[in-house]
Amino acid sequence: MLPVQLFDVLRAYAALLPPRSIELAGVSFETLHGFLLAHVLLNTHFNDFPPSKQYQLLFWKWAVDRLEQLASDPDQIDERIYTHHVGLIQDLSPQSLGTSAPSPSYVTYLWASNNPPLKPVYPGYASATLLESRTTIESGTTGLRTWSASLILAQHLLAHPALIQSRRILELGCGAGFLAVVTASIQLEKSLDAGSLWLTDVNEPVLSRCEHNLRLRCNRSCHHPNLNLRLLDWFDAMSHDRRSSVQELLDEARPDVILGADVVYDPSIIPPLVDVLALALKPREDRTTPTAYIALTQRNEDTLANFLHEAEQLLSVEMISTELVANNLFTSSTELGQAASSQTVRIFRMQSRQPR
Ligand SMILES: C[S@@+](CC[C@H](N)C(=O)[O-])C[C@H]1O[C@@H](n2cnc3c(N)ncnc32)[C@H](O)[C@@H]1O
Repeated sequence: MLPVQLFDVLRAYAALLPPRSIELAGVSFETLHGFLLAHVLLNTHFNDFPPSKQYQLLFWKWAVDRLEQLASDPDQIDERIYTHHVGLIQDLSPQSLGTSAPSPSYVTYLWASNNPPLKPVYPGYASATLLESRTTIESGTTGLRTWSASLILAQHLLAHPALIQSRRILELGCGAGFLAVVTASIQLEKSLDAGSLWLTDVNEPVLSRCEHNLRLRCNRSCHHPNLNLRLLDWFDAMSHDRRSSVQELLDEARPDVILGADVVYDPSIIPPLVDVLALALKPREDRTTPTAYIALTQRNEDTLANFLHEAEQLLSVEMISTELVANNLFTSSTELGQAASSQTVRIFRMQSRQPR
């Protein structure tokens, strides 16, 4: 049985978390060295979908320092670890490290699973790998990276798979696709009827990135039989001319469940978002009543209160969960890598107030 701290090493490397946050008290040289070699350096998943070289340099500097502290003789450290570290130093000049923005990177999120894939990144764990931007805003959008609210909503769905299995799902503001990859994995655990998954966003490059990530061969989502990606601008729901195109998309998707994570971060998008939710949650002719699960990171109390006030005019709204971001099972940290942050995410369940 490996010490639990070793899994933290793997999780940190996979999700590009600062290595200084890893606690390794009581782990011997042999155990750490063997783990780093077998599960990190020689792990075929990370050769195919590696963290950025900038992050790898940070990680392997930390790893070599730790190994040198623990070793009685530096010659005990496998040559391949030194060679890899030196290769990274040569590839990345000190100037480029100091000045350039962090490059996009593969990021792998792991969670314990009773039904792991045949070739797991780590035994007993399922995973979602995404190509993500490492900056808050890139190319004018926030959608090219994963936000904490997605992590918390994904965690909620993993704990309550029946909410989405064999159901028709529509995601608003899907971004780079983390929630979509996890949702698809959960749906595929029900082998006979996966249901359907409709991913929407306003931004074309964001939607392409989401598709790229869903189709990565290491993600279970690449086997989903009913994945659909569509451009959807919530403002269209407020436009006399374009509202019908939103209705057409909803008629095609016929969602039972609507998901949205970190979709309220600017007061101007609240009225159109509430309009889209009201349209999507209308009871249908087949007498089904869709339900939305919206996860919001608490940043600005006024913006959140404003959203809830607007939503409650048209919808029934119930807060079903509030979770510290730092407790999320994928990274145990916020999107900015702050382990000890008090940032929370709340999940709201919403339904129409209209009778069927
Ligand atoms: C903060 S990101 C969250 C992305 C993803 N849900 C996550 O949690 O990682 C907000 C997302 O909402 C999308 N968005 C913003 N305004 C929108 C609009 N008017 N219509 C549709 N999507 C929009 C953005 O393109 C972006 O992908």
